[in-house]
Amino acid sequence: MVYDIDSDRYNYHHNSKMPRLRRIFLSPSRFLLTVATISAFGFYLYTSNLTANSRFVDNGVLDRRLEKFVADDNTGDSMDFKPETGLPLDLNYTRNISKLIFNRVGKCGSRSMVHTIDILARKNNFPNMKSQVFTQKRLNEQEQAEFVAEVDVLDPPYIYNRHIDYVDFSRFGSEQPYGINLIRDPLDRTISFYYYTRFGDATYQREAGATMKDLNQTFDECVLFDKEECSTNNTFRIIPYFCGQDDMCRVPSRWALETAIRHVVKDYVFVGILEDFENTLRILEIIMPQFFGGASEAYSTIVTKGDVQSFKSVSRKEPAEVATTIMKQRMAYEYEFYDFVKRRMELIKKQLHLT
Ligand SMILES: *[C@@H]1O[C@H](CO)[C@@H](O)[C@H](O)[C@H]1NC(C)=O
Ligand SMILES: *[C@@H]1O[C@H](CO)[C@@H](O)[C@H](O)[C@H]1NC(C)=O
Ligand SMILES: *[C@@H]1O[C@H](CO)[C@@H](O)[C@H](O)[C@H]1NC(C)=O
Ligand SMILES: *[C@@H]1O[C@H](CO)[C@@H](O)[C@H](O)[C@H]1NC(C)=O
Repeated sequence: MVYDIDSDRYNYHHNSKMPRLRRIFLSPSRFLLTVATISAFGFYLYTSNLTANSRFVDNGVLDRRLEKFVADDNTGDSMDFKPETGLPLDLNYTRNISKLIFNRVGKCGSRSMVHTIDILARKNNFPNMKSQVFTQKRLNEQEQAEFVAEVDVLDPPYIYNRHIDYVDFSRFGSEQPYGINLIRDPLDRTISFYYYTRFGDATYQREAGATMKDLNQTFDECVLFDKEECSTNNTFRIIPYFCGQDDMCRVPSRWALETAIRHVVKDYVFVGILEDFENTLRILEIIMPQFFGGASEAYSTIVTKGDVQSFKSVSRKEPAEVATTIMKQRMAYEYEFYDFVKRRMELIKKQLHLT
């Protein structure tokens, strides 16, 4: 039986007792590294040479800048090519990347992407490594160490894909592979997931759905009757994939939002948008032809075969305006994150002359 990873939300409260590991003290080597990175970053800003890759951005420095940046977020004009966005991309660098993790967000079109990558793997001659774990995206310390070890032994080039929250490889002394991902409008995702848990899609019929006590409840009812399933906490879904394994990543907060954004800038080559899947593929083709050369064409063969239609949740009903308004408030952080990713993608399109 195949689950969407998000079905683990019913365990939401069980994880809260896990010890939270927080690094308060810096080891001497980490301190030196931090100083070096901050200096490098200062130099980087100073020369205004923004073509270098985004790994020069240091967490400690970025934190404060990000606050300002996020605060400016609604003005619409604050985002531009600058270190806060890790843009523009250095294509000489991205075209030489040989290890990628696609920590696919559930119900965001990741199956279309995985099918596309399947075709590309044969065409461009790299393995599309698929984890056999479908249900666990949160890992304890031990499991994180095992995950890092599992990925570390892979022979590049590869794309490794799994539904999993961001794992910080540096904590285990390993090099962070770059990430890619795909997200979509947060409310659309939530509604799609809501009906998927009840009725599945054309490919996977949900057995669980048949016994669910709120099986026939519409999404609007769920929102208006204030059901837990549609609560603020329970619809905080996209950010944790980018924020990471810390318990605090699962609770809606500005900290979680900013941590997620920081990881996108530092560790993801690119995060695409389902609503603009065509350009998502074109961007990937241009910035990483070693993996994605021919992606648009590969995807069109999937569309022609009708596979994509079968990934859509069945029995989906669109929400009333009032439910939409309520949910957009409950999901404010998710929308801030989505807007960041979307605007970042617009900048990349600008850089690549795709607009
Ligand atoms: C990328 O590489 C090409 C060819 O080696 C070179 O001409 C170009 O200046 C490089 N661009 C950057 C941004 O380093
Ligand atoms: C490409 O990456 C390899 C290691 O992954 C590195 O040794 C090499 O110097 C890189 N080449 C360029 C042109 O950046
Ligand atoms: C849901 O609706 C269907 C069809 O109206 C009905 O057969 C079924 O018993 C209902 N299920 C629940 C759990 O109310
Ligand atoms: C959301 O989760 C947090 C952390 O578990 C908890 O403190 C808070 O009360 C929850 N909020 C609601 C509305 O349940």
